[in-house]
Amino acid sequence: MYLYAVQFYNLKGDIFMNKELRCPVIAGNWKMNKDPSETKDFIKRIIDVVNNNEGKVIVCVPFIDLPEALISAKNSKLLIGAQNCHFKKNGAFTGEVSPSMLKSMGVEYVIIGHSERRNYFNEDDKIVNKKVKAALESGLSVILCVGESLEQRELNVTSEVISSQIKRGLYEVDKSDMKRVIIAYEPIWAIGTGRTASPDAANEVCSLIRKIIGDLYDIQTSEHLIVQYGGSMNSKNAKDLLSMNNIDGGLIGSSSLDADEFLDIIAAVKS
Ligand code: PGA
Repeated sequence: MYLYAVQFYNLKGDIFMNKELRCPVIAGNWKMNKDPSETKDFIKRIIDVVNNNEGKVIVCVPFIDLPEALISAKNSKLLIGAQNCHFKKNGAFTGEVSPSMLKSMGVEYVIIGHSERRNYFNEDDKIVNKKVKAALESGLSVILCVGESLEQRELNVTSEVISSQIKRGLYEVDKSDMKRVIIAYEPIWAIGTGRTASPDAANEVCSLIRKIIGDLYDIQTSEHLIVQYGGSMNSKNAKDLLSMNNIDGGLIGSSSLDADEFLDIIAAVKS
């Protein structure tokens, strides 16, 4: 028992596992930005770097940009993601897009549970869970977002909030499907505010996320889980955040809209 603890936790109590086991994943979340012609130009600008990059790069684009993104990224290493999906396969849901529709186009990733969807579109953990399961069932990979509000952080309930979002979001998700789940830690107070979590603070929560997954599934699943940080990540702070032991990548909003800035973040992974 003692050996086990020494093996997996450092002195600060952060879970400590071999980061080399995990492939870094940089994902751009364009939100409601860019049209198809801007999508084409952006992908043209980044494609060579992405093809020569060791880690994974994903761009999660608006639905209307998916056809252009998929064509522009064809035969390259760039992966294309959506930013939302419905939990039903089809039916009378005006304005919605199903996971199987995305999959049939060639989309590989979908962001689920982003705080903007939770806050502006009233998506609770139950809906998030339905979406996660539906997306996995149709063969998509999922970027599941979790994060506390400023009020929750000040009340010292970050661990409880994160733990509950993960347990509810992944309710009944099979261990075998966890290979297709990335968890993005996005403190709400850091999103689009220019206020980034310090590398230590971000790493502490990412370490907690890995521990929760270890408790829910097993050590092997938690050891292979990709945990991203998101919230005002940019070319200046990316290196420090990405060098942390439990941060395997980033989910980047505003700094993913500018190709040069995004390329600098991709470069920060290995620097
Ligand atoms: P930001 O957004 O990088 O603009 O803070 C991150 C996100 O919302 O995924």
